[in-house]
Amino acid sequence: MVRGNNETNGRNAKERDTPMTDHDKMLKLSRRTLLTGAAGAATLAVAPQLRAPAIAQKAPLKVGLMLPYTGTYAKLGKYIDDGFRLYVEQKGGKLGGREIVFVQVDDESKPEAATDNMNRLVGREKADVVVGTVHSGVAMAMVKVARDTKTLMIIPNAGANDATGPLCAPNIFRTSFSNWQTTYPMGKVMFDAGIKKVATITWRYTAGAEMVSAFAENYKKLGGNVVEDLTLPFPEVEFQALITRIATLKPDAVFSFFAGGGAVKFVKDYAASGLNKSIPLYGAGFLTDGTIPAQGEAANGIKTTLHYADNLDHPANVAFLKAFKDKTGNVGDIYAVQGYDAGALLDIGLSAVGGDAAARDKMIAAMGAAKIDSPRGPLSFNKAHNPIQNIYLREVRNGRNEMISIAQANVDDPARGCKIS
Ligand code: BEZ
Repeated sequence: MVRGNNETNGRNAKERDTPMTDHDKMLKLSRRTLLTGAAGAATLAVAPQLRAPAIAQKAPLKVGLMLPYTGTYAKLGKYIDDGFRLYVEQKGGKLGGREIVFVQVDDESKPEAATDNMNRLVGREKADVVVGTVHSGVAMAMVKVARDTKTLMIIPNAGANDATGPLCAPNIFRTSFSNWQTTYPMGKVMFDAGIKKVATITWRYTAGAEMVSAFAENYKKLGGNVVEDLTLPFPEVEFQALITRIATLKPDAVFSFFAGGGAVKFVKDYAASGLNKSIPLYGAGFLTDGTIPAQGEAANGIKTTLHYADNLDHPANVAFLKAFKDKTGNVGDIYAVQGYDAGALLDIGLSAVGGDAAARDKMIAAMGAAKIDSPRGPLSFNKAHNPIQNIYLREVRNGRNEMISIAQANVDDPARGCKIS
């Protein structure tokens, strides 16, 4: 379902009478170029008024937020949305001097509906930029539409490796992580801790498969042994049979990926089985990020790797957590940070072009070169537009994810298959 809100009404009859957005102009330009080729370009060259930047007409820039607002990832979607809007609010409702309006769609973490949802945002809703989403499968469908329509897209969570691998594109950015990036360092952490035999457990979909595979790539290279990979369909939460299987296998430790509501249930079920006393639980940081209040004591002692920790004490994180709490009443987490940084990245792009998003190449170049003082620590981007960032080893203590060490500094995804040079 597509919804407008106070600031974000969907395009109604009144709006259709307003000046063309950048999106309209780019579509019109590319249609003209396609239909008339060089002759069309020549026409444009003698009619510069046709290319008057939208900023001069004060048309707001429309941001499409395509996120899960329901389902097991609902809280993740809400925190990304809150983080993005917080950044825009801090800038007085404008990025690069350009007023921002929103339209939002609940993608429900359903890949089967993703192409239609994305087409509606860039087609009927005429979003100039799309920010989304959480689920890797949904994001992959969005990436395909963004590539076909050349829509500027910022991924504020989904880690699908291919989005900044073989499907990388100049108009696609990510302010979160690749699935490879968050868990590769955990292979060494667990091996160095003397853990020789691991069982893995996750949901059977892109994010689960890629996070387990990156962990195993590093762990096995060092000499570790993965005794069994256990999976269940996304977003099922009937973990009992798999937990019983772990008890039979008796590994030294378990490596896992779950997030949102599923992570809450898994951590509680695992603790209720008593296995956490003899077979420690490790995972990608999503297992305990934004979930500890619901997991309670069951989360104590869980070690994870992620590009964030709750107690990072540099000024950008302290200020962010205060502002997020003031705005929402909630404690910020990695999802809120990723949404906030998506706002910062768009701001950098729009500022470079005085708010004129139709000046695409310049805007994209500025975004690619961005260096952000993120709440997570230093954030920059590789040639595929995936973050380069620290990955922290954290442990749940005192009801939060406390940093133990930097598991690996400035981790850069290999961007396998990306053809941007
Ligand atoms: C993913 O599907 O890429 C994902 C979802 C939740 C947390 C992390 C990754």
